Amino acid sequence: MTDLNPQAEQMAAESMVRTLEAQTLAIWPQEQLAVQTLCVAGVASHAGDSRCRLRNGRRDVASGGAIPARAGARHRHHRCASARARERFARFGSRLTFEHGDIYAIPAADRSFDLTVCRHVLHAIPHAERVIAELVRVTRPGGYLHLIVEDYGMLYFERGALDPELMWRAVTHEFARATSTDLSIGRHAVGLLTALGLRDITMDYVVVDTVRVPRATFASMLEAWRDGFVDPIGEMTSISRDQAVAYFNEMISQVRDPRRYAAWMVPVASARRPV
Ligand SMILES: C[S@@+](CC[C@H](N)C(=O)[O-])C[C@H]1O[C@@H](n2cnc3c(N)ncnc32)[C@H](O)[C@@H]1O
Repeated sequence: MTDLNPQAEQMAAESMVRTLEAQTLAIWPQEQLAVQTLCVAGVASHAGDSRCRLRNGRRDVASGGAIPARAGARHRHHRCASARARERFARFGSRLTFEHGDIYAIPAADRSFDLTVCRHVLHAIPHAERVIAELVRVTRPGGYLHLIVEDYGMLYFERGALDPELMWRAVTHEFARATSTDLSIGRHAVGLLTALGLRDITMDYVVVDTVRVPRATFASMLEAWRDGFVDPIGEMTSISRDQAVAYFNEMISQVRDPRRYAAWMVPVASARRPV
C-alpha cells in the first residue's frame, strides 16, 4: 500500500484484469453513449469545425492499459501496462498514445485536451479533489471531463441467507477510512465539480443489473472482486475474510439465479471547464 495508490497490490493483481474485463463488457455499451454526446458537444463548441471528432484529442487518465473503446480488451496493471497497451493497439498509430505517469501530476501541459476521461479511479485514491483539479488543469477551457465515479453504497441485492448490504456498509466506511479513500465518491462528484467552478455538470448512471447485463458477466465481476479484495477486507474491516467470501458467494449465487434480481448503479459524471 502506498499513500497515493493505497490499492496498489489489488490494482496489480491478476484478478484486476478480470475485474476490468468484466466491467468493460458490462459498462461500456451504455457508457459510450455518454462519451459520444460529449464528443458531439465538443465539436459543436468549435465554430467552423464540421467533422464529428475532437480537435485536440481525448485523454484517458490512469488507464492502466485499459481501452474502453475495445470491449473485452485484456488489461495489465503494472508498470509495463503502457508498453503492452502500445503493442496491442499499434494499429491506431499516432492517433493513440500511452504514457506512464502520476495522476496527481499528469505529464501534460495545461489546457491540452478537449475531453479528459478518468474511469474507475477516483474512489480508489486519496484526495480525489486534488486529482479532479489536475484533470481540469489539462482540459482546455470549454472542454469536458468524463468520470466514472464508483459508489459502493449503490449496489443492490436481495436479502438472502446473508444480507450483502451489511458487508458493503462496512466496506464503504471502514475500508475507506483505512485507505483514506472515499468509496462513496459517486454521490460527492457533483459537489466536487461544482466547487471547482465547472459548468454543464451532468450525472448519469450505467445500470449493471441482471436485466441489462448478462448474468455471467456480472457474476464474473463479483468473482474477480472477491478474489482481489477479501484479504484486505479481512484485514481492514470488522468483516472477516471468511465472512467476506460468504457475502461475495451469496451475491454471485443471486446474480446467477434467473429468478433473482441484483443491480449496481455506476455513476457517470461529466462537466465542462468554463471558457
Ligand atoms: C481500477 S483501475 C481502472 C483502469 C482504467 N481507468 C479503466 O477504466 O479500466 C485503476 C487504475 O488507476 C491506477 N492508479 C492508482 N493510483 C494511481 C496514481 N496515483 N497515479 C496514476 N495511476 C494510478 C492504477 O494503477 C490502475 O491502473
